[in-house]
Amino acid sequence: MSSDDFFLNNKEIKRIDFKTQKLFNHIGVDRKTLDEVFDKSTLSTIEKLISDRIIDYIDFPISSGKEGNVFLAITPKNKPIVLKIYRISTSTFKHMKEYIIGDPRFNFNHKSRRDTIYTWASKEYKNLIKLDSIGIFAPKPIKKIDNILLMEFIGKERQAAPMLKDVQLTNPKTIFKQIITSMKKMYQNADLIHCDLSQFNILIHQKQPYIIDIGQGVLKDHPLSEDYLKRDIHSIVSYFKKYDIHEDEKLIYDKIKRKKGEYHAIHQDSS
Ligand SMILES: Nc1ncnc2c1ncn2[C@@H]1O[C@H](COP(=O)(O)OP(=O)(O)OP(=O)(O)O)[C@@H](O)[C@H]1O
Ligand SMILES: [Mg+2]
Repeated sequence: MSSDDFFLNNKEIKRIDFKTQKLFNHIGVDRKTLDEVFDKSTLSTIEKLISDRIIDYIDFPISSGKEGNVFLAITPKNKPIVLKIYRISTSTFKHMKEYIIGDPRFNFNHKSRRDTIYTWASKEYKNLIKLDSIGIFAPKPIKKIDNILLMEFIGKERQAAPMLKDVQLTNPKTIFKQIITSMKKMYQNADLIHCDLSQFNILIHQKQPYIIDIGQGVLKDHPLSEDYLKRDIHSIVSYFKKYDIHEDEKLIYDKIKRKKGEYHAIHQDSS
């Protein structure tokens, strides 16, 4: 397929303008977002989501990130859900290989850009399933189709929960501990490391830290998994210094890596 097929000509832009009258609740989606996100195949995937009655319409954009655009969509039962659309044409795509190669769940084999992005969306979807299965606070996955991931909306009414970086915590120590506990649970019970954990990828909702944006998450047996774990610990420990919480990264690392029984063994030996 030539790359021209991914971009829109004037006639198609007109067609999309017409369709978006129906698809969108008019406000907030500008021309640039439209062109960036809705190549032809993405548009037909959205049409399928609507004709399958999974969503009724897309309400408004929540965020436009490096690789995807996040929208709030409304279901036929009038429930808000999140649609994360990975852009085919303009996502920062090179780094994806680093996390896909080395993950035994995915075959890389010199995939096309489009296939890589579909795989990336599957990766986030599968990682969310893992988080859900071990009871981590994170959006529940709903569906993944091509480059679109549907998941639970974290927020109140139609207001997305704020990122950790935008909240002035009244209980930073508790939140810090909850984040470390989630990291440990992920590591011990799902063999999973987030690989981009930071104040940008944690939402504060109902006083709990919700982990999001886990497309790059890898399993323990990825060759760089230990480095990624250390990097995640470093970002979290560094962030909480502003709350005067000074934790030792090595101790946190040991805590995450230590299995339940091991703690008691060490504890009993030293007593
Ligand atoms: N399930 C959700 N519920 C509510 N808001 C969400 C949800 N998922 C994502 N968001 C919002 O959208 C933003 C971007 O999401 P995410 O980090 O997953 O995408 P991204 O494309 O990787 O973005 P970035 O490049 O900024 O990291 C989040 O910071 C958050 O504000
Ligand atoms: Mg993010």
